[in-house]
Amino acid sequence: MVRIRLFRPGDEKGCRRVILTGIKVSEKAFGKKIAAMQARANTVAKIREKARAGGFAVAVAGTAIVGTGRLQDSGEISIVYLLPRFRLRGIGSQLLGYLERVARRRGLKTVFVYSNPVAEKFYLKAGYRLAGKAGVLRCGHAAVRCRRFRKRLAV
Ligand SMILES: CC(C)(COP(=O)(O)OP(=O)(O)OC[C@H]1O[C@@H](n2cnc3c(N)ncnc32)[C@H](O)[C@@H]1OP(=O)(O)O)[C@@H](O)C(=O)NCCC(=O)NCCS
Repeated sequence: MVRIRLFRPGDEKGCRRVILTGIKVSEKAFGKKIAAMQARANTVAKIREKARAGGFAVAVAGTAIVGTGRLQDSGEISIVYLLPRFRLRGIGSQLLGYLERVARRRGLKTVFVYSNPVAEKFYLKAGYRLAGKAGVLRCGHAAVRCRRFRKRLAV
């Protein structure tokens, strides 16, 4: 059974492992340079730092971290990633729902994601809608055009 909970100290390495498999997917869409930057932005130390701000969730099977997701104060949801063999089993939807509940508790009315092309259907099925034109996702000094999806949260 997989359960979703907030990040705890000690989860960093497991999260990095998951995030690296997710970055492999976006590498196909955005290229090696962006993927390398994303990997550098998610070292164990940087994951720890991001988690300190709160809103960092993990999916856990037994004692292993198999999924990650993060809600920032701005309402941006990112690093929604699962280890390959845990994909397409409803766990991503649970993780996203969990982050949306955290957002609601924080009083946010909307959340948004910059989706890679592969995951767009996943967000559309979860009620996200295209928000404006293609957005620009900044990663270090590089920027890639990618589409932004937004969801209005039920009160
Ligand atoms: C994207 C991801 C988080 C989705 O989580 P998941 O657990 O696999 O998705 P779920 O099983 O909850 O799927 C929910 C719905 O979205 C659909 N879906 C999920 N991933 C999809 C994909 N890549 N392409 C098309 N549809 C997809 C499912 O078929 C399902 O539809 P249904 O309700 O009609 O059955 C996961 O597949 C993943 O880690 N992918 C690689 C990393 C990635 O691209 N992350 C997104 C970064 S923006």
